[in-house]
Amino acid sequence: MCGIVGGVAQRNIVPILLEGLKRLEYRGYDSAGLAVINNQTLFRKRELGKVKGLEALLQVDPIFGPIGIAHTRWATHGKPSTENAHPHVSSNKVAVVHNGIIENHEPLRGALIDEGYLFTSETDTEVIVHQLYQTMEHTQGFLKAVKLMVKKLEGAYALGIICTEEPDTLIACRKGSPLVIGVGIGEYFIASDVAALLPVTQRFIFLEEGDIASISIDKLIIYDANDEVVTRPVKESQLTADSVDKGDYRHYMLKEIYEQPFAISQALEGRFINNRLQENCFGHKAAEVFDTIKSIQILACGTSYHAGLVARYWFERLARVPCNIEVASEFRYRNPVLAENTLIVTISQSGETADTLAALQEAKRLGAKYSLAICNVPESSLVRESDLVLMTRAGPEIGVASTKAFTTQLTALMLLVIAVGRRFELTEAMEQKISSDLFKLPRKIEAVLKLDDQIKVLAEQFAEKEHALFLGRGSHYPIAMEGALKLKEISYIHAEAYPAGELKHGPLALIDSEMPVITVAPNNSLLEKLKSNIQEVSARGGQLIVFMDETLASAASENVQIIKVPQVENEISPIIYTIPLQLLSYYVAVLKGTDVDQPRNLAKSVTVE
Ligand code: G6P
Repeated sequence: MCGIVGGVAQRNIVPILLEGLKRLEYRGYDSAGLAVINNQTLFRKRELGKVKGLEALLQVDPIFGPIGIAHTRWATHGKPSTENAHPHVSSNKVAVVHNGIIENHEPLRGALIDEGYLFTSETDTEVIVHQLYQTMEHTQGFLKAVKLMVKKLEGAYALGIICTEEPDTLIACRKGSPLVIGVGIGEYFIASDVAALLPVTQRFIFLEEGDIASISIDKLIIYDANDEVVTRPVKESQLTADSVDKGDYRHYMLKEIYEQPFAISQALEGRFINNRLQENCFGHKAAEVFDTIKSIQILACGTSYHAGLVARYWFERLARVPCNIEVASEFRYRNPVLAENTLIVTISQSGETADTLAALQEAKRLGAKYSLAICNVPESSLVRESDLVLMTRAGPEIGVASTKAFTTQLTALMLLVIAVGRRFELTEAMEQKISSDLFKLPRKIEAVLKLDDQIKVLAEQFAEKEHALFLGRGSHYPIAMEGALKLKEISYIHAEAYPAGELKHGPLALIDSEMPVITVAPNNSLLEKLKSNIQEVSARGGQLIVFMDETLASAASENVQIIKVPQVENEISPIIYTIPLQLLSYYVAVLKGTDVDQPRNLAKSVTVE
């Protein structure tokens, strides 16, 4: 998704902007650009493709300046092209970078064209910059014009704006899309997230909805949505520039897969005493909220949605807590009926997913009294807008395909099952057992990661395939869904997941010797049923790959391959079975030579609808 970097410094800003853009690459993008002001003149460079292309352009034809803005674009309005790349400029005096979508761009564009403004791109963003220039023509001062201009915008935006008439001032605006200010020593920066600025500062101000900041070297003034001057706290980030490095790993995704034992131990750290969950880890109002609620509604997108699907099995089977789940983009427009005393649980790695945020707003509008966020980014919008929060503590996740965020979400969700379940039918003995199983997870995952070499070999069978089916049952059906999502995201192989019992109602027609069928087969009460489903595939010549508990007698044959997964306790087993599927997608993608960490067309944090 689009990324913004900008700054006002006492040195040439260009290397800082370029480094920032590289650190935002993980968000997903198709073009990049930057603009600086030097001696009251605006200079701009843009390039289709990767930031290194922009960097090469700058090597041949460098620009310099102490103030600037930069952008990675993820196309929404208008194809990926140099013309559509940001920054956009008006009369070579004003330049803007934008993350979000201006919903009323068409009428604004029409009116500006009527006034003689020439548009050079197909983007919604270009209306912002011409609208600003037009406002400046009859308004005193850059800041005042920006304040008037944003009143005309409908939709979501984070903006970085510079102007040659006030060449020392950078203006930043936030409404519906995230933006942080980095506080340096005698310099300030802006960015879509802290990762972009870690080489220059660890001190951050998180802008709030409707904020407009006027930034120069020695002065930062923030106006809130009511145009009052406000002071926002400066927060120290625990992250360092190194925390988002790849280390010796070939890809972030592999690094993040291997970080899962540590990430899960962090998710559990300090949250239990004697195998009893300390529910204040959800926030000081936790007990009051949990005492009141009668059901759960989970809202999320993508991989986070899959985590929620697993949790629904846990809530209902283990604790008899009624639990619904829906993808956020559907919930927000369905006008759903919410039962009284429903706890809204949002799940999001980034905490900035536009659909999830909007679904939470919709739930509040429908009367939901309490919300809880399971999230990986402490200062994110979702965290700020929720009553209770459980941080997943996965650490920064850079690969677009989510891995450690997913397994820590599952871990966090199990803590929520315990906390709420205590008020329903989850006994103390069950809590003790689940807790002790959770603490075994890091060691178990280390053992599963040893399947790496075996899975690397297995991946070779996929490189030429165009389709794959994933099967699972019960709480492992969402794991099959997550396995299929990973494979399609990064290897571009069409993959679908089915609950194995549904096979005979349609997908069996697809089975032939060319169709790999990946089956998640833990040792649980559904195993015998699953074995029958495996037979159905095998009898029709399908190529089965079965991830199976090591304690089970296996029946490998010509078209059935068995991968033995270390034995694992029933309830936490979905977390364990996720790992080999992550590795499988990863190695297939590596063999296919795709861009594993930044797969085509995808974004890490989808901050637009
Ligand atoms: C994008 C990412 C997915 C992610 C989804 C939800 O589609 O590519 O990996 O699962 O957004 O993101 P969230 O940050 O809300 O978990």
